[in-house]
Amino acid sequence: MSATMKVLGAGDTLTIIIFGATGDLAKRKLFPALYQLMYACPDAPLLPVMTRIVGYGRSAMKLEDFIGKQCGLVQGSNRSDFLKQVSYFQGKYDVEEDFGKLHAALLELEGSSGTANRLFFLSIPPTAFACVCKNIHLQACAANGFTRVIIEKPFGRDSRTFAELNSTTLGIFREDQIFRIDHYLAKENVLNLLVARFANQIYEPLLNRHQVAQVEIVWKEDIGTEGRGGYFNEFGIIRDMMQNHLLQIFQWLAMEPPERLDAEHIAKEKRRLLQAVRTLSLEDCFLGQYGPGHRKDKSGDVHAEVGYLEDSTVPAGSRCPTFAAVALTVENERWRGVPFLMRAGKALNERLAEVVITFKRQDYNSLVPSEPNQLVFRIQPDEGIFFKCINKRPGWKQTNTAPVQMDMSYDRAFPGSYNAGAYERMLLNASTGDQSLFVGSEELVEAWRIFTPLLDEIDATQPLPVRYPFGARAPDGFANFCRARGIVCEEASEHYYLPKFIRGIPVLVQEAEDTWRADNSKLGSHNGGLCFRKSTDMADRAQEDFLLMYGTTTKGIDIGNNWVKVPYEVPLATGNVFGSLRVDINRARSPSRWRPDNSVRDPPQSPARSRTPLRGASIQPAELPTCKAKGGRDNFADEPQAQAETV
Ligand SMILES: NC(=O)c1ccc[n+]([C@@H]2O[C@H](COP(=O)([O-])OP(=O)(O)OC[C@H]3O[C@@H](n4cnc5c(N)ncnc54)[C@H](OP(=O)(O)O)[C@@H]3O)[C@@H](O)[C@H]2O)c1
Repeated sequence: MSATMKVLGAGDTLTIIIFGATGDLAKRKLFPALYQLMYACPDAPLLPVMTRIVGYGRSAMKLEDFIGKQCGLVQGSNRSDFLKQVSYFQGKYDVEEDFGKLHAALLELEGSSGTANRLFFLSIPPTAFACVCKNIHLQACAANGFTRVIIEKPFGRDSRTFAELNSTTLGIFREDQIFRIDHYLAKENVLNLLVARFANQIYEPLLNRHQVAQVEIVWKEDIGTEGRGGYFNEFGIIRDMMQNHLLQIFQWLAMEPPERLDAEHIAKEKRRLLQAVRTLSLEDCFLGQYGPGHRKDKSGDVHAEVGYLEDSTVPAGSRCPTFAAVALTVENERWRGVPFLMRAGKALNERLAEVVITFKRQDYNSLVPSEPNQLVFRIQPDEGIFFKCINKRPGWKQTNTAPVQMDMSYDRAFPGSYNAGAYERMLLNASTGDQSLFVGSEELVEAWRIFTPLLDEIDATQPLPVRYPFGARAPDGFANFCRARGIVCEEASEHYYLPKFIRGIPVLVQEAEDTWRADNSKLGSHNGGLCFRKSTDMADRAQEDFLLMYGTTTKGIDIGNNWVKVPYEVPLATGNVFGSLRVDINRARSPSRWRPDNSVRDPPQSPARSRTPLRGASIQPAELPTCKAKGGRDNFADEPQAQAETV
């Protein structure tokens, strides 16, 4: 990103020393990322060809055993060349003499070449950071080249512990030698926030309190702690996700345009923004913890899942939150009065990270039926930018409007592009000295200032989190929390039952000629029905009628614009699985064949009618929508019009 970064050339010498090389992070992320950079990614090599990798650990281990244990995920035609550049060094972290030996070994590896740069990656628990930094400084700095240190979160647990860590590291290294990783700063659509804002004319004039009603920064995961409850319980969801990853997204979205897009100027604007954020207390926060429930796997099968407290690695009776929401208040000219709702939860109904910006209604909006525009930056999965805007439906009536989704999905806009892993980008940028995607110490002081009083209050008073079933979309009571702060969170609303924006992915999978299976993980709603998006394989048959079959009964029809629909009175299969829905294109040539048989056009009579919940085991029938307002409670921007127009 920085125009001043120096890319290491083929003739440069670089040695990457990984402390904690026997651990999980090194195995899963660091070795594969280094292989990509050196041999496999487009434009490789992006590190000098003769980069050496030294694994450092406390255990005595032969090199071949170390490689066998830690480099299994390195796969590709240059694997053996790569492995020749890997060595292992045994030493303790708190013994200075061992670092002297490491230095001697590094000198030997570096040979007599001119410059010899060293990049140290501290992939060890934070308790070992201080002694490793001190010993590198005393014994193992590069004699003729740069010495840089990459450290991983957590950067402390609160303001006090961060101050300790910071004074240790900054007492040893300069700020420009320390690279603090937040891997969300390497995600494509987080990086794109700055490009979208500053390379276009349309976004920036809209991002302010005159235009924006609210911003939601959402992170959801559909898995629980999966045996890592001991680690998670130490931190909780606020320290694990909010104070770092979600706050980074917030900063990139809400900071003022920096004078230049380099590390120094970006850091300055990020810090200025955080200084304007009010410190949080328990009153600003909603806490939840998941209990037993259900999860749907990739094949659509539903499994029972244990609750957080039933995870054997979690201490009995823990009140550690696995769901949290906070409303950030920004006291500056641009954002005063705009709530930023940040929420993060494990064991919810889906995996999702996105920013949803909802715009304010203006006086002139009352001239035609409308609802607020929304701009969505989806970070994962299915990265993209979606814009919900209101348009006139084709037909006689000027006031017949519909929300339409303008859709910039990465997979369609940039098909086949290489999506670098976060650690590839981080290792590359650290090697070039570009700190713009790393976390500065001054912003961390502010980040901890915002969250520490809240965390202290939680630690001291141990409030009881609201239990929610595994697979829920949000805990009970979350809607009230939002309402009390003037935030409209559609997902928390009792009328919400399906995703706001459907993923732009084909959801009918061809099984045989003229037969498709519907993937129920991609459901939409429309006027009391469920909509399935047609697969691209079917695109050339877009004009044909489609018939959805449930068992042997006719249940639905093509409603055009790439959607197929069934009424949602369809009895669901076990759990919420729609696996047996089938499409038979030959049996539905005319809409008149199906109209009398089903209720596609009739909205459901009452929310109290007994229906199987559609998504998430926690959704109760009472929560199902009335489907009366707005032509059927759809948030679904690109849904077609199923009802005939009356003039
Ligand atoms: N794994 C991830 O996905 C992930 C994600 C984000 C952040 N992180 C952070 O990255 C760092 C490494 O993560 P990791 O999952 O690889 O950790 P890990 O597997 O628990 O530990 C890494 C290595 O550190 C050494 N170690 C373990 N406990 C130690 C102790 N008490 N004192 C000194 N050394 C110790 C061990 O190496 P030897 O015994 O061989 O010396 C171990 O193989 C941690 O700071 C973690 O918080 C990890």
